[in-house]
Amino acid sequence: MSFQFNFDDSDLEIETDSNQSKNVSYTLPSSALTLSNLSNNKPKDLIPTGEISLESLLQTLLNVRLTYSKFPISSTSSIVRRELYDIRHQIMSESDPTSSEEIVNLDFLDKDDLLRNVYEGGLTTWECSIDLVKYLSSLNEQMNTSKDIIELGCGTSLPSLYLFNHVYLNNSSNTYNFALSDYNEYVLRLVTLPNILINWYDLVSANHKTKQQLDSTQENKDTIAENEFTITHSLIEMFLNDIKSKHINIGFIKGTWSSELINIVNNNLNTNDRLVLTSETIYQPDTMPLLTDTLMQLKRNNYDRIILATKDIYFGVGGNLIDFLNYLKNAYSNDYKYEVIKSGTSNRSLVIL
Ligand SMILES: C[S@@+](CC[C@H](N)C(=O)[O-])C[C@H]1O[C@@H](n2cnc3c(N)ncnc32)[C@H](O)[C@@H]1O
Repeated sequence: MSFQFNFDDSDLEIETDSNQSKNVSYTLPSSALTLSNLSNNKPKDLIPTGEISLESLLQTLLNVRLTYSKFPISSTSSIVRRELYDIRHQIMSESDPTSSEEIVNLDFLDKDDLLRNVYEGGLTTWECSIDLVKYLSSLNEQMNTSKDIIELGCGTSLPSLYLFNHVYLNNSSNTYNFALSDYNEYVLRLVTLPNILINWYDLVSANHKTKQQLDSTQENKDTIAENEFTITHSLIEMFLNDIKSKHINIGFIKGTWSSELINIVNNNLNTNDRLVLTSETIYQPDTMPLLTDTLMQLKRNNYDRIILATKDIYFGVGGNLIDFLNYLKNAYSNDYKYEVIKSGTSNRSLVIL
């Protein structure tokens, strides 16, 4: 394993669990959700799962102006990403005080916070997603064979953006399918999809001729600053045609982790190579088993890979890596091998399944 966390004080440790028969004690909290008890225990406010097409989500963003900046991943690489103030600006300009939809209380945007079953933190980038990007960038060769890329709890979706950029630049004749899933539909609309568009725009802008084509999609060019563009009909058309020519498909899933989510993935993504990514999603003890079940059901065989990036413990909320591993051992004792890559001093880990 060549990957290392690039933290100054990194103390890399790799733990591989090959002792499949080891029994560990884990007591499922009575309020915990699993795939098998979800239909009986579902909290009333849990958002149902649903599929959203790229085309329909793009239409909801028509005439929205996006402002973006580079988000450094390492000293040599970066991903472009929508600015938080820009998301806030869109929310304010669209907010309808008479609407009953609880879009986003602006207070949430000032801190990395959660409101259980309402808003689960997807509008901001959490630090483990950067660990996941760094890990993916250490795997370039293997990644070339992954054709179905699924990110659960994607939020700003840095890991998928990294892979999107990689696949786009690779010019492969393979088809690549991305399924981006988040609890809140407005996260997919306000940040996940805009981030894909922004990364695509940034990539294609590098070519002088394509940049001219991009410019022709902008109606009031003079009022547009650098690192800004408006989502117009012609820009959407150019984007859709271009990713089609690169054999890249993108779809979205909103709502809770569930059997419906697994069905949507299985109905749409059927290549032999499946990579499931998730970052900072085991913080809530009640939904950790549901996420784990969903991940394990998405893993169809030993070739499919799951990579989870997580803090070792979520103070104040209670979720933690040990409970995740113990639930995994209890519920799936014979079905898996895993590896934990830990940074001894940062209290963050990657679990590879
Ligand atoms: C703390 S955020 C992390 C976002 C992103 N992965 C990152 O690392 O920056 C947790 C993510 O998990 C998603 N999530 C939380 N609970 C969920 C549930 N029950 N079903 C589906 N998604 C959920 C949220 O929508 C949110 O995007």
